[in-house]
Amino acid sequence: MERQATRIDWIGGSCRLLNATATEFRETQPFEGLTIGTGIHLEPKTVALLMTLKAGGARLVCTGNLNSTQPATVDFLRAEGLTVFATQTTDAEAHHQSLEAVIAEKPDLLLDNGGDLFAIAAERPYPELLGGTEETTSGRTRLMPLRDKLSMPILVINDSPIKQFAENRHAVGQSLFESYMRFTNRSTNGKRVTVFGYGACGKGTAACFRNAYSQVSVVDIDPVTLLEAHLDGFLTPLWEQAISSADVLVTVTGHPDIVTAKDLPLLKDGVILMNGGHFPTEIDVAAFRNHPDVAGRSVYAVDGIETLHLKDGRAIHILGGGHMANLAGPRPLGNSVESMDLGFTLQARCLERIARRGAGADACVVPVPADIDAAVASAYLDLAR
Ligand SMILES: NC(=O)c1ccc[n+]([C@@H]2O[C@H](COP(=O)([O-])OP(=O)(O)OC[C@H]3O[C@@H](n4cnc5c(N)ncnc54)[C@H](O)[C@@H]3O)[C@@H](O)[C@H]2O)c1
Repeated sequence: MERQATRIDWIGGSCRLLNATATEFRETQPFEGLTIGTGIHLEPKTVALLMTLKAGGARLVCTGNLNSTQPATVDFLRAEGLTVFATQTTDAEAHHQSLEAVIAEKPDLLLDNGGDLFAIAAERPYPELLGGTEETTSGRTRLMPLRDKLSMPILVINDSPIKQFAENRHAVGQSLFESYMRFTNRSTNGKRVTVFGYGACGKGTAACFRNAYSQVSVVDIDPVTLLEAHLDGFLTPLWEQAISSADVLVTVTGHPDIVTAKDLPLLKDGVILMNGGHFPTEIDVAAFRNHPDVAGRSVYAVDGIETLHLKDGRAIHILGGGHMANLAGPRPLGNSVESMDLGFTLQARCLERIARRGAGADACVVPVPADIDAAVASAYLDLAR
């Protein structure tokens, strides 16, 4: 017998750790009677996580992140009985309304990505909220100053060593590299690639382009990190040279205004700009579009590419409107299944810990507990043997 299977089926079947966790949760029911509100990319790998939490007895109220919501995922989740407030949008106001709708349900636990949900909860606390998790670097940075207001356990998945090396270093690098090729269908060989930010994500990105025969330069605001890039064998030119030499510019800093309109005079004809950082603010796309030196714009809507034609004859290309390129454009696959299976199992275990009141207010915006890291690493290795 043959049946038509979907991408969600493929990903679901590939998440071996989450599937094992779901089997256990069906027995142990750690989330019985609890509602979990989620604000994380609605794409097939998230489905595997949300189904695991549902198996553990949770009621789920979900939204996504800016730009990355996949309609097929939303349809699937709704058919599974989850409440989803999300549309695929780049409109910050529309996205904010979805976040508010999640918070209005007063979830007992929040699973956040970028700090969107906890930022609202910090402004308008409600007594049911036990705590939750934050997925990424940018969310941790945003929530740190809100710790006094939040004063509840919030475990930061990003700060697990497993997330750092499995996802940020290995998977984001592979995924951004894959995205460059998927968007452009251009080669990497001999291309001059400048990577802004040499944190975990930047390290993987720089390595993947180098492994694909590009000449890679690294820019980082921190001289110690830049020295590391130098000793890792990357070029570390000064800003002007780093911009003007690049065929491809990739931002992965987690900070806004990395490549801005003031860099326009330096950009090489034909340069490709892409962002891997969480927020679409690292490349100031709006300022580029509205710059007086821009004479026209070609939009390859289906491909997620736009080309700005400058009055002096140069062209610059922007991928995915400056949104995280690995979750934008045609067929956005995101990070590898294995990396997300690991990271999302950390999510499930951290939420379980908080649901069982195993973490207190002193654990507000702190890394994943070491015993959870060890258990998840052992479980993955067991499956890999
Ligand atoms: N695309 C994805 O799938 C994905 C996955 C994980 C994380 N992220 C995001 O990627 C971004 C980077 O994450 P990370 O874990 O590598 O962060 P990180 O903090 O480890 O590294 C960021 C690096 O950027 C450098 N930096 C900061 N400001 C800079 C500036 N003005 N110019 C040059 N360098 C500067 C820092 O010194 C640091 O070395 C974050 O926004 C994170 O949320 C994206």
